[in-house]
Amino acid sequence: MAGSNGLHTLGRRYAHITGWGKALPDRIVTNQELEQIVDTSDEWIRTRSGIHQRYIAVDPRENAVTLGTRAAMAALDVADFPVSKLDLLICSTSSPAHLFPSTGSLIQDALGATRAGAFDLSAACSGFVYAISLANAMIVSGQVESVLVIGTEVLSRLIDWSDRNTCVLFGDGAGAVLLQASPVPGGVLSTVLGSDGSGGDLLSVPAGGTSMPTTLETVAAGQHFIKMDGKAVFRFATRIMVEATREALDKASMSIADVNLVIPHQANERIIRSSMKQLDLPDDKVFINLYNYGNTSTASIPIALCEAIEQGRLHSNDNLIMVGFGAGLTWAATAIKWAVPGAREVPRWRVSQRQASYSLARVRSRLLRYSRQVENSLTSEEGDVLGEVLAQRIEGWRKTRDE
Ligand code: ACO
Repeated sequence: MAGSNGLHTLGRRYAHITGWGKALPDRIVTNQELEQIVDTSDEWIRTRSGIHQRYIAVDPRENAVTLGTRAAMAALDVADFPVSKLDLLICSTSSPAHLFPSTGSLIQDALGATRAGAFDLSAACSGFVYAISLANAMIVSGQVESVLVIGTEVLSRLIDWSDRNTCVLFGDGAGAVLLQASPVPGGVLSTVLGSDGSGGDLLSVPAGGTSMPTTLETVAAGQHFIKMDGKAVFRFATRIMVEATREALDKASMSIADVNLVIPHQANERIIRSSMKQLDLPDDKVFINLYNYGNTSTASIPIALCEAIEQGRLHSNDNLIMVGFGAGLTWAATAIKWAVPGAREVPRWRVSQRQASYSLARVRSRLLRYSRQVENSLTSEEGDVLGEVLAQRIEGWRKTRDE
């Protein structure tokens, strides 16, 4: 990771969001469609949760990696940032493509972010704000210059589509932001992270981990699906959203009156309205878009951020609060001074250049896989020679691309 050898000692550093992007699967599933699958009604879903529709990844080729990669590419385009310069990629997800390798590493490969460290972060719906906190700490301490934070979920693959308690609530999608170091005051002002594992059983996927490995019996019992005590989560959420928001404001030396916009985790409209009422925040300072997406877990806040920007709800120097809660139980909040000027025009040729670099990344990845296969079939001496030749070639391509 660039800059990891020494701390920057000259002046304070701030972490600013400079790019943002979202990605959604093609298929919209309406409440009316769910009425055909389980014993529910459009009216129940709207009044109890606020949700009208959600996006579902019906194409088996779509997963947390493909959605996360698309969101990341969109964020890099907005920031007009060359992926070859990226230092770190944090991928928050509760529906990773695999237990390992990490979804973050696979996105790093798809982007061709060859200098970046990459890993997954697991804090359920709070994960995106957890990742912002970590990215901020890495930037402010001088360890890195740029961090891509991605929230990506395909929870539809963990849902029991015959369980009306859960299947009506969730949706798939991804959102991403790029954070960059800057001497300009602002950006991430404070972060609050919390956890109470005693509530782990309130929202969980019981099987598939090391405490309950997948067996024929766990599958037959549907233990690989999301289980939720909705009422208990509801009570926890309405309390913790208020507390976490107040704490983030305190830490940033701000009051409710200073807040221009809150982007809460989009789980349930009633949770959001109840918490914001307790905080005395008027409706026009709260962004809600769960009507169209359902609960996309860790992706909900970055997707909402993108929409808030598209709708002109965020302006330079606005004070933004992002606050989430989720399985764990976990919670997280951040206060941000939005210092990005309005939409910038990125030249078309630079977007094309970035797209070409993604094609190159695909070729590079395939070549590396192929070279490993060839290496395995050679004697150790032959392998050493070939490995050296390929390493030189790849290094040559990388240099050409970076120039
Ligand atoms: N359609 C019709 N009826 C339903 C449905 C449905 N889809 N789902 C549940 N019901 C029934 C239940 O069976 C129950 O019936 P019963 O009383 O006869 O047993 C009844 O509706 C429950 O109704 P309420 O108690 O009024 O439901 P509530 O107001 O608690 O709303 C809900 C339920 C929407 C699940 C709410 O509790 C909630 O949103 N909780 C928080 C969930 C959440 O945010 N989870 C995500 C956390 S983030 C993360 O980490 C993924």
